Amino acid sequence: MKFSIGVLSLLLVLVTHVNATAQGRFVPNYDETAIPDYELPACLITNEGKVVSNAAMWEQTRRAEILELFESEVYGRSPEACKILHKTISKKNYALGCKAVIREVDVTMQLASKSTTIRLLIYTPRSRVSVPAFIGLNFQGNHTVDASDEISITDNWVRNRGGIKDNRANASTRGTAAGRWAIDKIIDRGYGLVTIYYGDIDPDFDDGFKNGIHPQFANQTSRITEGERWGSIAAWAYGLSRALDYLELDDNIDATRVAVIGHSRLGKTSLWAGATDPRFKVVISNNSGCGGAALSRRAIGETVERINTSFPHWFCDNYLKYNRNENACPVDQHMLIGLIAPRAVYVASATGDTWADPKGEFLSCVHADPVYRLLGTTGMGDAGLPAAFPKPDAPIKTGRIGYHLRTGKHDVTEYDWEQYLDFADRHLQSQ
Ligand code: GCU
Repeated sequence: MKFSIGVLSLLLVLVTHVNATAQGRFVPNYDETAIPDYELPACLITNEGKVVSNAAMWEQTRRAEILELFESEVYGRSPEACKILHKTISKKNYALGCKAVIREVDVTMQLASKSTTIRLLIYTPRSRVSVPAFIGLNFQGNHTVDASDEISITDNWVRNRGGIKDNRANASTRGTAAGRWAIDKIIDRGYGLVTIYYGDIDPDFDDGFKNGIHPQFANQTSRITEGERWGSIAAWAYGLSRALDYLELDDNIDATRVAVIGHSRLGKTSLWAGATDPRFKVVISNNSGCGGAALSRRAIGETVERINTSFPHWFCDNYLKYNRNENACPVDQHMLIGLIAPRAVYVASATGDTWADPKGEFLSCVHADPVYRLLGTTGMGDAGLPAAFPKPDAPIKTGRIGYHLRTGKHDVTEYDWEQYLDFADRHLQSQ
């Protein structure tokens, strides 16, 4: 009986899918029983089929293989680090009721005669130096994270959203994203916050990479096989790494204690930044979903085909090979989490964010756990794996892999930040 209902619902999903595709419409599957059969590629078996039995084998062989596969098949190959120049643009000493200093610092990524400048908005607790910090990209401009009229407004392309009509930011959106950045809490807990408008690095639309940072590296990237050239996620992650290069020169922040954080597409980005740059000591993915923390093979909610169709510029062209063909991909997203090991990683989902497949995000953590344990650290929890998919608002945050399922929609909330701060206290403060 159970079996035939399963088969019937599978048929129904297939028929709906074929119909929807014929009409050019994508109808996501949200039915766990209709998930296709899949087998995850193993984190701890090398391409040659050898079992990875110790940390050296992981570091020297398997980690390198997995990183290489994500570069060639998913996000594309990023260029070498370029030189950076920096310049302080503004400084406010007595901000946030005198408890913080706010600075704007321009960091120029320079390669031969070409350059791209990103503006870092930096909050640090006043009268303290060398603090641990969070760094994260924002969606609509630095001026949206805080209503202060002293924060400069980007001249770069921004998405038409929240009243913006001509892709140019203006003062009407000041502070509109403030709810996503718990700045007071972050400062009160002794952390700095660095944020950058992601469009400073690469504007988020598909123009064949004519704008943003990509053209600057054309000499290098044209030597790379076309399918493996870097997409926007890789470019945004590259920008985060160059910002970290600058933080290494900034006395107010301890660059050895930085957590990279991102929401949604920028959560995919923080994971890739954490995977490619081991200087990020903590990596936080908020509702990152498909191409982020969620297992692609589950094909529930957003799928590889759907993301490649809506956002073809995010990934490398080779990723197209896995449209409705996830099983053929030599990696899945648990291996992305594995690349971060043994550093601390936190994945957060939301009950109303089924598009991002909360359970798939959780399962990625579960399947990355053996890598953490092989490296002699805790994985998901001290005692062992959680017995089941956790209930809403019951965070797992005592091991090196943290996870929670928040009640609510696709967003970053105070609740999320409270968990991240607790997690950061464990992994960034105790040194
Ligand atoms: C879309 C997209 C997601 C992405 C999200 C976002 O919903 O399909 O993959 O995470 O946008 O970045 O807001």
